[in-house]
Amino acid sequence: MKICYIVAMRAEATPFIEHYGVELLAGFFAPLPCQCYHTQVNGSDLYVVLNGEQHGSDLVGCEAASVATLAAIQKIQPDLVINSGTCGAFRSNGANIGDIYLGSGVMFHDRRVPGDDAWGTQALGNYPVWEGTSALAQKLGFKLGKVTTGSSLDMQPCDEQIIRENHGELKDMEGAAIAFVCSLFHLPILFVKSVTDLCDSGAATYDEFSKNLALASENLRQANVRIIDTLIRAL
Ligand code: ADE
Repeated sequence: MKICYIVAMRAEATPFIEHYGVELLAGFFAPLPCQCYHTQVNGSDLYVVLNGEQHGSDLVGCEAASVATLAAIQKIQPDLVINSGTCGAFRSNGANIGDIYLGSGVMFHDRRVPGDDAWGTQALGNYPVWEGTSALAQKLGFKLGKVTTGSSLDMQPCDEQIIRENHGELKDMEGAAIAFVCSLFHLPILFVKSVTDLCDSGAATYDEFSKNLALASENLRQANVRIIDTLIRAL
């Protein structure tokens, strides 16, 4: 079994990388900026792929996530892709800072394409997630919520309208792009998300995100260790 994590920011992956002592496979994706780490856990291969950096900062967003996911799938040929990362959520849905959610669905919230149903459907995405997601959430006691993805950290009223109309709960910048690439390869995708900020708290999103990034990333480590143990034991 090969499990491949796709993670946007190094800070989100660091506690996890340190926990497993995964090793950098230098030059694995050259000349792409993505970085690949690998180890074995009880006979299963664990890969952690970071989007990499450009202009001195971690590459976040859909473009970098698509490139990393495509390169990872083609080179690693994983059995399961897992996107682990931070997200915004809504206090009005009962979310708290540091909560761990598994993604019950995934779509885009900022692709407004007028036209017929086919264009509208393509724009929103609504890709499949791994069929075992809900059973895993129940078994490990994690919340479930729909991931919605856009290219901005802030939330404009038109984004919020689409999120609310589609019952989105977790706002990120990569999930749907990763799921899009997985859908092309018919590969299962599991989302593990940790809440850094509440989109309806009234606080400045970047300040809230920065303040809670370390806590949310440590919670991701703890959640992912339990998830990997469970997945590997199920083999
Ligand atoms: N990642 C963490 N918080 C986020 C937010 N509010 N929107 C998009 N991506 C995020």
